[in-house]
Amino acid sequence: DWDMNDYAKQAIEGIREKVGDKKVLLALSGGVDSSVCAVLLHKAIGKNLTCVFVDTGLMRKYEPEEVEEVFKKQFDMNLVHVKAEKRFLEKLAGITEPEKKRKIIGEEFIRVFEEEAKKIGKVHFLAQGTIYPDVVESGVGDAALIKSHHNVGGLPDHVDFDEIIEPLRELFKDEVRELGEELGLPRHMVWRQPFPGPGLAIRVIGEITKEKLNLLRDVDFIFRDEIAKAGLDEKIWQYFAVLTDMRSVGVMGDERTYDYTVALRGVTSVDAMTADWARIPYDVLGVISNRIINEVPHINRIVYDITSKPPATIEWE
Ligand code: XMP
Repeated sequence: DWDMNDYAKQAIEGIREKVGDKKVLLALSGGVDSSVCAVLLHKAIGKNLTCVFVDTGLMRKYEPEEVEEVFKKQFDMNLVHVKAEKRFLEKLAGITEPEKKRKIIGEEFIRVFEEEAKKIGKVHFLAQGTIYPDVVESGVGDAALIKSHHNVGGLPDHVDFDEIIEPLRELFKDEVRELGEELGLPRHMVWRQPFPGPGLAIRVIGEITKEKLNLLRDVDFIFRDEIAKAGLDEKIWQYFAVLTDMRSVGVMGDERTYDYTVALRGVTSVDAMTADWARIPYDVLGVISNRIINEVPHINRIVYDITSKPPATIEWE
């Protein structure tokens, strides 16, 4: 019989045997896999695990705060919180091409991580949140390793370590989530929707600025809040807002406005390879639209994306 409590105990025991009193380094993104990986390792080896969390400035509202709250306050982990927003935004200034954005973010992420690793010094193990589907999809190791680093740049070249440790590599996604709950991670953290490594950078169409990111963060927060209130948060595969770079004419009071259009996207899917647009009830969409218009400045039009994948993709960039 499959029992997650027994599995967790065995896994923790296995890690202790393997790691002993050696040091382990993990890049913690706050996503499901790296979060569960972090807590599992922490339960096994405590302060011999160091987690590096790179705050790119491209995350959702309150996400960096939540990482602090859960991993530092709740679990008392050795957490290095790198506030790198300025660096990322400087590198991204003036960039509009989606693949360029991804490449810049991936490279900068590795660079920041390496710099922090250098400060920590020699570690024996580099931990990766690789899960079973990553291992299968990629055949052998390498491609799987790329994924846990935001699907972007691959393994850092300049981190001084001897071995890789992948404590989740036998588990399917749902098992990783159950294990996370078993280990005491908040439910909403382990059952959360997928979020792309490049973050909100690929949801601000065109040039990225801090102002646009802040608008999008507020919009996205309202969208998620209302979807949760409607009890749909675990029913829809992914739901998010896109700040288009298109402006249109509107009217507010007696004033003409010329402001941004926000696109809302909700999709149902099994594996993100194909997807259908989610039939979010009109009433829910109506409440979301009103709240966004009333609470967030510089947005005067909201549209809902009704394309499936294919021909569209889930993200806009
Ligand atoms: P698309 O837009 O290709 O997205 O239909 C499929 C799934 O992958 C996510 N996605 C990414 N995840 N790095 C990631 O880690 C990325 O660069 C990236 N781009 C898209 C997307 O959110 C969806 O779940």
